[in-house]
Amino acid sequence: MKRIALMASPLLAAFVLSGCGGVLDPSGSGAEEIRGLWWWMFWLSLIPVVIVTVMLAVIVVRRRRSADPDERVSTDSSRRDNRLIILGGVVLPVVILIPVAIVAIATATNRPQSDPDTLEVGVTGHQYWWDVTYPAPGNQRLTNGDTFRTANEIHVPVGTPVEFRLRSEDVIHSFWVPELDGKMDMIPGRTNRLTIQANEPGTYQGICAEFCGLSHTNMRFLVVAQPEEEFEEWREEQNGPAVDGLDEDHLEAFADDCGVCHDLRGVFEERSFRGDFGPDLTHFGSRRTIGADLLPMTPEALGRWIADPEGVKPGNRMPDVGLEGDELADMVELLEELE
Ligand code: CUA
Repeated sequence: MKRIALMASPLLAAFVLSGCGGVLDPSGSGAEEIRGLWWWMFWLSLIPVVIVTVMLAVIVVRRRRSADPDERVSTDSSRRDNRLIILGGVVLPVVILIPVAIVAIATATNRPQSDPDTLEVGVTGHQYWWDVTYPAPGNQRLTNGDTFRTANEIHVPVGTPVEFRLRSEDVIHSFWVPELDGKMDMIPGRTNRLTIQANEPGTYQGICAEFCGLSHTNMRFLVVAQPEEEFEEWREEQNGPAVDGLDEDHLEAFADDCGVCHDLRGVFEERSFRGDFGPDLTHFGSRRTIGADLLPMTPEALGRWIADPEGVKPGNRMPDVGLEGDELADMVELLEELE
């Protein structure tokens, strides 16, 4: 039984992993390359697994049959043992690792390429959310003029490379969208670049792949890949100021309770400071999720998040500002209106 379990374990692993969808069901150019490498490594690694399993089975059967303990070690077996060590310890690893190395190098070089016209998107990791910066419409590069900020939901045009500039504001994070490409670390004091190309429209789950603190597993994001025209419409909307006609009293409350950390572009222009410590909330209501893809965008979830940030997402930097009752309901209403 144990032998069967041992032999089945790699197949089981493949089955379980394929259930994750991501890596083995890619929708991006980089992830397709990685899937090829994954299967290549899987089949090659099966060779030693099969050999070792067969050898184990032979040993077990032989030992059982041998009644005399002295027969278990034959005197002329040492030469055979040496051959086995050279074959299993030198020849086999070389035969397996060289092809893996060749395919791994080919995979690493055969990636989506960027050029000076490639859309550039800045993503900065924070404990535990993602600050996202885009060039304003009409521009492709972040350094060529106006930019705008959003958070935790990254939109990209489908079928074209997008170059991410990845940074960190505090500790090391890692940017990973399994269905689109491999991981890239976000390191304080350094900018790493990763060019990703989504080949199918859709919403993809992104995660932080480097342990970064208490809410590391709650540090997620969404990548929304959409046709070029839709993406440009989204960019136009997001670049604009917050919607008109927001309730003045609600805005006053926002300025007092939330404005130190969060910005509403176009609303508090006269203020001497900009709340850029936390996510930009100018178009918060247009996002699909709350708290870095932690809760759905519903009034109930939003109320819960504002009333008890620590309970919902342990270790995060958002304080409980003490809103409850009507004040809380008003704040939820305001945030939902920020489409
Ligand atoms: Cu950020 Cu883990």
